[in-house]
Parts: sequence; C-alpha cells; structure tokens
Amino acid sequence: MRSFLGRDILSLKDFEREEFFRVFEVAQQLEPIPKSRRNSDMLKEKTLVTAFYQPSTRTRLAHESAMHRLGGHVTGFADPKMTRAGDFYQESIKDTVKMLEYYGDVIVMRHFQQGAPHEAAKWASIPIINGGDGWGEHPTQILADLYTVLREKGRIDGLNWLAVGDMRMRTMHSLGYALTQFDCPITFVGPPKMTLTKEFKAELKQSSLNFSEAEHVEQVIAKADVILVEPVVQPDYTKSRDERAGKELDLTPANYKITRQLLEKKAKPDAILLHSLPRMDEIPTDVDSTRWSRYWQEAFNGVVMRMALLALILGKME
Ligand code: CP
Repeated sequence: MRSFLGRDILSLKDFEREEFFRVFEVAQQLEPIPKSRRNSDMLKEKTLVTAFYQPSTRTRLAHESAMHRLGGHVTGFADPKMTRAGDFYQESIKDTVKMLEYYGDVIVMRHFQQGAPHEAAKWASIPIINGGDGWGEHPTQILADLYTVLREKGRIDGLNWLAVGDMRMRTMHSLGYALTQFDCPITFVGPPKMTLTKEFKAELKQSSLNFSEAEHVEQVIAKADVILVEPVVQPDYTKSRDERAGKELDLTPANYKITRQLLEKKAKPDAILLHSLPRMDEIPTDVDSTRWSRYWQEAFNGVVMRMALLALILGKME
C-alpha cells in the first residue's frame, strides 16, 4: 500500500481497496475524540489552509472542525471575492497556491472549475485535498459515506446500492470510482438530461463495476441496502455562485424522490438512506425521524473522516 504521507487527495479513481480500509481503520481509532467532544494535540504543530471558491457548509467546516479536534490550526478563505483571485486581478491558481503553501501544511480546495485542485497540486509543495471541483469529484464526501456504511452495516462488500439524483454530480463520479473496489452492485436513477455520461459509463465498465440504470426509484428501491440521494433541483456547479434571485424552482419529480410512504411500502427494513446535503425536496423532512435515515450520522462521520485523512497526510498516523 502506498503511504499517505504528503499525498494529494484529488480523486477516488486513484484509491486502492486496502487504502480505503486503512483510512476507515484510522477513522475508527480517532472517532472517540469528536464523540467525546474533546480536542487532542496530535496536529498541534500543523496548519490547514482552506481555499473555497464556491459556497460550502459541510466540507469546509468539517475539515476545519477535524483540524481543531486534532489540535491543529486553520487559516484560509470561504469566498474568493475577498481575495485577489476573485477581484480585479483574477489571480491564477498557480499564483494563489504559491502563496498558500507558505501559510500552512495542507490545503483543502473547493472550486467551480473541474480540475482546479489538480492544477493546484501541480504547483504546491504541500498536499491538496479536493473539496469538490465543478462536476468533477468530491472524494472526501464519498469516503465519509462509505465509512458511514461500514459503521452502520458492519461491512461494505455484498451490499446493493441505489444512487438517485443528477448523475453529472461530483459525488456520483467519486461514488462510481470508489465502488469499483468493492463487491457492490449499484443502480443509478436520474432524469434523462442528467444521466451518466457516455465517458463515465465507459470508465465504469472498464473497471468492472456491476451497474445498471432505472427510470423510477419505485422500480428498484426494494433491493437496495444503501440508498444514496442527491438533488436533481440544484445549482450550476460550474459557477462560483448560483443564487436563486427570486427564480421559481421546479419540484423534484416522483421518480427521484424518497418519501416516507415509499420507504414504508417498498424499502428493506434495514436499508440505510444517505444524503450528503444540502437537500431540496427530494427527501421530505418527515423521513428524518424514520429508521432508514442516516444523514446526521453522515455529518458526524464527515468530521471523523477528515480527521483520518489529515492525520495520515500529515504523517501522524502511518
Ligand atoms: N455535501 C457537501 O459537499 O456540502 P457543502 O456544499 O455544504 O460542503
């Protein structure tokens, strides 16, 4: 297994099976720290730099919280408009990271351009974590989701997945790549204009992923052990900001909606329902208190997972 020390986390396409399990093992070791609402001093000599060119609640704050839980420091920006990258100069990724690398020891970057964190990694002498790049990937989110499955179901192999939403989404790409390393058949359900791209399908086939597509969640929910949902009513991820500005939004069609009635009627009693959030109306709030929902656990695991990655990348865990 390759060492995590100094490694960029840009894509789950790079991840090998035993590397997933090593990250999960470290996460489980560190989990008691946030569970007992403590901070440790493991990374007290290290600083995380956050470079967020797109809005985020979970990804940025979970990384920051993870760093604080490990006793480290945090600096950075949550809005490029307040930096030279987002005003008159439109400073390049290269010029920006050639500064940021002196301000800390690892950078987590979210960007509206697919491949921007990869560009940053080309120039930075410190590791880059991809916090979501355009339609590209969202590796730390899917690591948190897989860890949630492991903690909730006790295993990953042998579980049937159902993924619902916009298949152009970065989370779907990271999910597809990750599941190629496990025995997990998956069915994708997305609107006709948001289906898996030809290129991505070819990649999944090449990697021997057992996948299929369906039109309506009702047709396939009964066989799912893990149901992962993303919005189909959502912003343009290639923009730095996509404000609604009074725009009337569509409602999610029934094909892509997980309601309490549907779960009660058709889902396995021990299936688990994941959503990385934010949500629109695809999971109504009355689902939150059902036995299927696990999205709040996912949020906690998002911190634990980022703690594991930071400890590994910064060399405090082997
Ligand atoms: N799940 C997720 O990426 O959320 P944020 O956009 O709030 O970071």
